[in-house]
Amino acid sequence: MTQPTDFAREDTDDWDKYWSGVGGIGAFTDGGVSHPAITAYWQHYFRTLSASPANESLKIIDIAGGNGALIETAGQIYGDEQLAITSLDLSPAAIQQLTKRFPHVNGLVADANAIPLQDNSTDLVVSQFGIEYAGADAIDEAIRVVNPGGNIALMMHCENGVIFHESRINLTVIQRILNSHILPLAKCFFTARTELHRGSDKQRQSFQAQAEQFCVALGVLEHCMSEFGTGAAGGFVHKLYNDLANVHESFGQYVLSEVLDWLSNIEVELEAYKGRMQAMLDAALAVDEFNEITEKFRHSEFTLTVADKLYSPDNSQPLAWVVAADGQ
Ligand SMILES: C[S@@+](CC[C@H](N)C(=O)[O-])C[C@H]1O[C@@H](n2cnc3c(N)ncnc32)[C@H](O)[C@@H]1O
Repeated sequence: MTQPTDFAREDTDDWDKYWSGVGGIGAFTDGGVSHPAITAYWQHYFRTLSASPANESLKIIDIAGGNGALIETAGQIYGDEQLAITSLDLSPAAIQQLTKRFPHVNGLVADANAIPLQDNSTDLVVSQFGIEYAGADAIDEAIRVVNPGGNIALMMHCENGVIFHESRINLTVIQRILNSHILPLAKCFFTARTELHRGSDKQRQSFQAQAEQFCVALGVLEHCMSEFGTGAAGGFVHKLYNDLANVHESFGQYVLSEVLDWLSNIEVELEAYKGRMQAMLDAALAVDEFNEITEKFRHSEFTLTVADKLYSPDNSQPLAWVVAADGQ
């Protein structure tokens, strides 16, 4: 694994927490990102590419590749031995996971705005919901590293698309949970409950007061579930609600410090999840931003073959922007 030089960004920290399993609320368990139409698009792309004798084997770079969703699809169509793959991501944890899953892949911890590879050094650049996080300059970098006869295929978040709306709802839900202060209140409630055994009036009154506030916060979770469904925020609200109920019911089986640590970890998860959702919303491209990207291709040696929105057959909202460009 190649190591980064120097970059520290809040949103990337959130991705890093996600890939390292700390901020593990399921960003990808929601409908949009895992939609079959997305996989089908890439399968078709790689199949079409592989049909040309010139593309029988390829040097590929997957930009902002995460833990390798796209590489998996490419490998299924091509066979891993036909591909020399580099996967680039700003998150060291993503690259660590990726190289564990796909030991044959060269993992590169780097910023897509400054790809540490030479000009014209690859046959194909791909990115799925990644390059747009780095901004428009990363497109210039993608064009720079592809050889003149090569190809570029990008799938990017789309403002007001399915994933955008999911992310916005998730963010609303998470913000409500944070505003309810359920986690600090749960800490106070369970601490007061532990102190109950001393049996004084003061302890009972304190417990009563904490229980009332905790119940109000639980009501916020219930309200979120009834308004947005139990799958809201990747199922996080539902899971938290059930876990809190289980801890409460079986409280005697737990040591207070373990419960408090567990709640602190969830606080970290929540903040990281919020950061990732906000990053997804910020990365989503409006029409003029997408046009800026396609203009870059029009001013390059590449010919745009696809520059459009990808729709699922059953939805009127787009899933993503897609771009495909071929060299001469
Ligand atoms: C939504 S995830 C997509 C991951 C993967 N492409 C997939 O489809 O599963 C976005 C990825 O972009 C990475 N990322 C964000 N900003 C980046 C940058 N400036 N350079 C490289 N990677 C970046 C994050 O670390 C994260 O892994």
